[in-house]
Order: sequence, then structure tokens, then C-alpha cells
Amino acid sequence: MLKRFSGLVKTILYGKQYPFNTKTVTLGDQPFLLRKIVDQDIKELIALERNVYFGEAPWTKSAFLSEIHSPIPHLYLCIVTRENEIAGFVGSRLIGEDTHITNIAVATYFQDQGIGSLLIDEVEKFAIMNDCETLSLEVRLSNTDAQRLYRRLGFSSRNIRKNYYTENSEDALDMVKHLDVKLGGQ
Ligand SMILES: CC(C)(COP(=O)(O)OP(=O)(O)OC[C@H]1O[C@@H](n2cnc3c(N)ncnc32)[C@H](O)[C@@H]1OP(=O)(O)O)[C@@H](O)C(=O)NCCC(=O)NCCS
Repeated sequence: MLKRFSGLVKTILYGKQYPFNTKTVTLGDQPFLLRKIVDQDIKELIALERNVYFGEAPWTKSAFLSEIHSPIPHLYLCIVTRENEIAGFVGSRLIGEDTHITNIAVATYFQDQGIGSLLIDEVEKFAIMNDCETLSLEVRLSNTDAQRLYRRLGFSSRNIRKNYYTENSEDALDMVKHLDVKLGGQ
């Protein structure tokens, strides 16, 4: 408990907000813009969540707003098509020596093209810049497709959190990736 509290204090005092500069990335032969999420995106992000979670949107507008305006160092990015459609997004925040991925989704139409991997790579750079030892996330036990991707990206299972998802009491798999902290700050 004390360790968690001191981790939070250290994060607020010393964590670095990430000066993420918008950039263009090409996947296959399609160009996308990778940029920070802004308030005006939230409606579309909720629609994207409904697209991938069978009509449900796990995060409310206020949940997104409090994350993207949090004083705790965080990185919330979206990837946008040339037609200005959000294809996917990722959210993460710093907690002590860990960067936690709070949310990630890629619209069904854009899945399996490398967008999820690219978003996680960007969060990993943010974690390394903040000298984090780990990158972590929770995933539904039933979501074996996402788990396979996370394992391929270097995550492994750490724990099971019982009844983590309140709406159906599903358990979560807590996954972690150990980072090479020696690269931090470069
Ligand atoms: C999980 C999720 C974010 C992954 O996003 P994604 O953009 O499909 O991820 P990627 O394209 O990087 O990787 C998916 C698979 O496509 C493969 N892939 C990547 N680029 C590819 C390409 N150009 N051509 C073909 N396959 C490709 C990857 O190797 C990966 O295969 P694997 O599952 O066997 O490891 C996405 O499926 C999603 O939003 N799912 C619904 C919401 C969800 O479950 N969120 C996670 C909650 S924890």
C-alpha cells in the first residue's frame, strides 16, 4: 500500500508528460496519421468501441475525459485515415515503475494490418522514456486473439484477476512485459 502510494507521488512529481508529435505512418500502402486524442475525438472513440464490443462501449465520455486530462503522465493516441476516420486508439498511464495500457481497440475493418502492434510500440517508447520497468495490461480470459498478439509482442501472464469485468463477472488475465530500463531517457 505504502509502495503504491509512494509510486503515485513519484509519478506525479517526476513523470514526464510525453511531447508526442503527430506523425504519418504507412501500413501496407495506406498512410495514416498518428496523433494525440483530443476531446473532439471522444464521440468517435465510443462509436469505435461499440464497433468492436458488439454494441457495448466500456468507457464513457467522462472516463475518456478524465484520462486525457489527468495530471498523471499518460499517452492517449489515435490513428486516423486520410479520410479522417479513426481506425484505432490506445490509452496508457504511468503508475510508479509501470506503464499500464488502459484501453486499446482497432475498428474491425482495420484489424490484422499491424495497427494494434504499432500502437503498443508507441506506448512502449513512452514507458521507456519514463524509465519504466514494465508495461502491463488486463485482457479478458476469453479474448484469446488479443492474448496471442500480446504474447507475440513480448507480454507474458502474471496473474488472474477474479471477476474483474463487472458486467459478466469474467476474470481478467494480467499480462506484463519487462522492459530494458537501460534504454530509458535516450
Ligand atoms: C486486440 C486488437 C487491439 C489488435 O489490433 P490489430 O490492429 O488487429 O493488431 P495487429 O494487426 O497488430 O495484430 C493482429 C494480428 O494480425 C497480424 N498482422 C499484423 N500485420 C499484418 C498484416 N499486414 N497482414 C496480415 N496480418 C497481420 C499480427 O501478426 C497479429 O497476428 P497474431 O494475432 O497471430 O499475433 C484488436 O483486435 C481489437 O481492437 N480487438 C477488439 C477489442 C479488444 O479486444 N481490445 C483489447 C482489450 S485488452
